[in-house]
Formats: sequence, structure tokens, C-alpha cells
Amino acid sequence: MTTAIVVHGGAGAWGEVPERLTRAMPACIAAAQAGQAILLAGGSALDAVETAVNILENEPVLDAGRGSYPNANGEIEMDALIMDGSDLNLGAVAAVTRVQNPISLARKVLEHPNHNFLVGAGAEAFADQIGFPRCEVADLLTDENLLHYHNHKNTTANEAHGDTVGAVAIDSNGNIATATSTGGTRHKLPGRVGDSPLVGSGGYADNWTAAVSATGHGEALMKIIISKRVCDLVGDGLSAQAACDAAIQMLAERVQGTGGLIAVDARGQVGVARNTNAMPYAYAIDDKPIVSGK
Ligand code: GLY
Repeated sequence: MTTAIVVHGGAGAWGEVPERLTRAMPACIAAAQAGQAILLAGGSALDAVETAVNILENEPVLDAGRGSYPNANGEIEMDALIMDGSDLNLGAVAAVTRVQNPISLARKVLEHPNHNFLVGAGAEAFADQIGFPRCEVADLLTDENLLHYHNHKNTTANEAHGDTVGAVAIDSNGNIATATSTGGTRHKLPGRVGDSPLVGSGGYADNWTAAVSATGHGEALMKIIISKRVCDLVGDGLSAQAACDAAIQMLAERVQGTGGLIAVDARGQVGVARNTNAMPYAYAIDDKPIVSGK
């Protein structure tokens, strides 16, 4: 059975500080390599996407975990979603603070017997209840993002370099999974939640079709439930690549949105599409060398 993992470091303008894109690429490659190692050792797609996203969350140049964009109050609120395509089980968190790896908190929610989605103070209380590692806001806020916040806090500019990180994978048992994690948009209102933690928008995984992770302007992406749409198109017979291309075209035409998608289908075929300037990504199929691009 083919194994595959695809990761992205966020679709966006990436033009403000070109050096950031140069720094994002090795993180994507490292994340794909870590996921590939898990898959080749017989590990699960769910473990592979969680580990890959942890690496991306820990890279300060990317808008997730450490490096998340501050909101309009200079605070950090993060969203994440993880989904297991074998049983459609999912875990999501929204508006969480003081957590270095929100995707791993989402994984704990996935493992909860009764709940799928926890937000804000409730998600924080759950983290404390289960002894989940906490951090300080200062550990998440980079000097670069803090400076940008202070220079632009009286403007409405929210043009982002990038946005969100994600991973999709298929393992040697044919199980597929997705994980998406984000600090959200720059200058967002406190309490604003984007597409990333919303099942079907920020991600979707179903062994019968595909696993998808989305990135870009959340308010547009959620309107067309873009990740589920890609899965449905694969179910209709499109390749993962053709389905991603069609969904990005619809994003532009139907809601004038910008963003990017990664996907892997149930046969291990990969799709990558965007209509932004750039989206750093990397993927690995079986034990073949990593392919990367932007
Ligand atoms: N795509 C991430 C967000 O809009 O929050």
C-alpha cells in the first residue's frame, strides 16, 4: 500500500519579507521527512500528521503555535483541527492561548469519548484537567510579529505573509488523516474563529475519498466548505490534483477568495493548489525523496 504525506506552511502574499519564505521551506521539508519516517515505520496517518504539524507549529516564521499572529488586542488565539479518515472521528479547539502545540490539544479532544470541539476557556480548562503542557504568551509571540503589531495596530491592514499550517497523510493500512493549525489572521477581532478548526472547511479526511487541509482567507474558505468539497470531487472521480484545482477556482469565482489546498486521496495520489503568491509545501510518497515547492 502506498504511503504519502503532504504538508503546507500557509498560502499568502509572502512578499513583505522574502527571507521568511526561505526560512519556511526547511520547516516544511523537515515536517514531511518526520511524517514519512513514521509512515515507513508502519505508524498511523494520524500520528504522522500530528508530528508534522508539531514541527510546523514550532517554526516561528509560520502562523501557528510559536509565530501565531497577534489579534487586535495584541493577544494570541489559536485554532486547530485533526481528523481520522478511518472512522471520521475528529478533535478541534478554537481561541486557545498558552498552548505551544494546539494540534496536540485537538488530538486529545479527538480521543475524548463524548466531545469533538472545545473553545476558549473551556478548552483551556480541559488542557489543565488532563495535564496538557502549557506555555506563556511570550513563548508564542515573536519579536517580528510584536513589532508588526505595534507598527500597524492603528490600521486595518491584515495582509499576511502566510497563514496556517497543515498536513495530510495516508498510511500503510490505507487510513488517511488531516491536521490543520493556525494563529488566524492578523489584527483579527478577539473571539474571531476562522475556517481552520471547522470540520469540512479547514480540513476533512475520509478513507473513502481523500484527506485535505486548507489555508487562506478563512471567511471565504468556510463559505464553500472547501475541504469537504475537495473530498466530494474526489468521490465523483476527480484526481486529488484536479479536485484541488477545481475547488480553488470555485473559491475565486464564487466568493472572491484566496487560499491554498493540499490533499492526498485514498490511492495515495497527491494534490497541491493555490491562488496566492506562494504556499510553501513538501511531500513524500513511499520512501522516495521529498518533493518541495512554493
Ligand atoms: N485560514 C486561517 C484563518 O483564516 O484563520
